[in-house]
Amino acid sequence: MDVEDRRVICGCGTCAVSSSGQRSLITLPFPTITPDDYNPLNLLSFTRRAIYHTLLLSQLPYVNLMLFTPDSELDLLFPSEQIPTEVKAQLPPDLHIRPLASTDYRRGHLPVLSVLTVVTDPGEEAWVAQFESLRAAARTYYSIVIVDKRTDRIVAVGTVFLERKFLRGLGCVGHIEDIAVDKSQQGKKLGLRIIHALTGISENSGCYKTILNCSDHNIPFYQKCGFEKKECEMAKYAPEDRARSPRL
Ligand SMILES: CC(C)(COP(=O)(O)OP(=O)(O)OC[C@H]1O[C@@H](n2cnc3c(N)ncnc32)[C@H](O)[C@@H]1OP(=O)(O)O)[C@@H](O)C(=O)NCCC(=O)NCCS
Repeated sequence: MDVEDRRVICGCGTCAVSSSGQRSLITLPFPTITPDDYNPLNLLSFTRRAIYHTLLLSQLPYVNLMLFTPDSELDLLFPSEQIPTEVKAQLPPDLHIRPLASTDYRRGHLPVLSVLTVVTDPGEEAWVAQFESLRAAARTYYSIVIVDKRTDRIVAVGTVFLERKFLRGLGCVGHIEDIAVDKSQQGKKLGLRIIHALTGISENSGCYKTILNCSDHNIPFYQKCGFEKKECEMAKYAPEDRARSPRL
């Protein structure tokens, strides 16, 4: 039974559940109050309609409540065809993997990243400026997200950036960064899918290797993703007065 069928069943004439293509919106969860409703005699009728409406909405199958925005309506960091199709096919139907979009600040991009480390919210305008600066560096930054179609919220993120070298015949290396899966979705292979997608992008771009840094705690995860432990990481933090971002 689709949304339109439910509206017919409701019959109140003010139900605002609407559906268009893949995108279903509830624009008004309660019936509109009409001038007649201010008449005490009609109050009961309005209350009954409101309760019925609430019950109706709570019974709608989740697929009809989707707020999902398809890729065609988004301004993406890079073409979605660059994400390997086999990874897309391995996701359950309620999840979607795609490039980061210019409006993803509003879909919870930063809260998901905050499961990884300290995230300072710069505000939407600065976030979008950062998005544009990544996109301006052509064929370099590949940030991807997994979106829960039921809520249009981001549940997993990751980035690979490509380093072009003069050695190894002008070789290229993919650096994986900022992998995070929302706590409620961990353990469902989303981290694995993100890593496979990023590795695929790196290898399809001609990189001879893909590397990353991680804590000892996450070594088994990356081994399951096909990585092996190699060498070690060195770091030098800038003096505090020169650092423009918080220390992690
Ligand atoms: C680490 C993280 C990305 C893993 O994502 P996830 O979606 O929870 O993991 P997956 O379900 O894809 O795990 C794939 C496999 O790795 C295993 N695994 C995941 N994390 C593990 C860990 N810390 N130790 C051991 N095994 C781990 C899973 O059990 C699974 O094994 P299986 O195939 O035998 O079932 C996620 O837990 C996370 O966001 N953690 C917080 C942020 C973070 O640490 N990011 C990594 C920065 S380097």
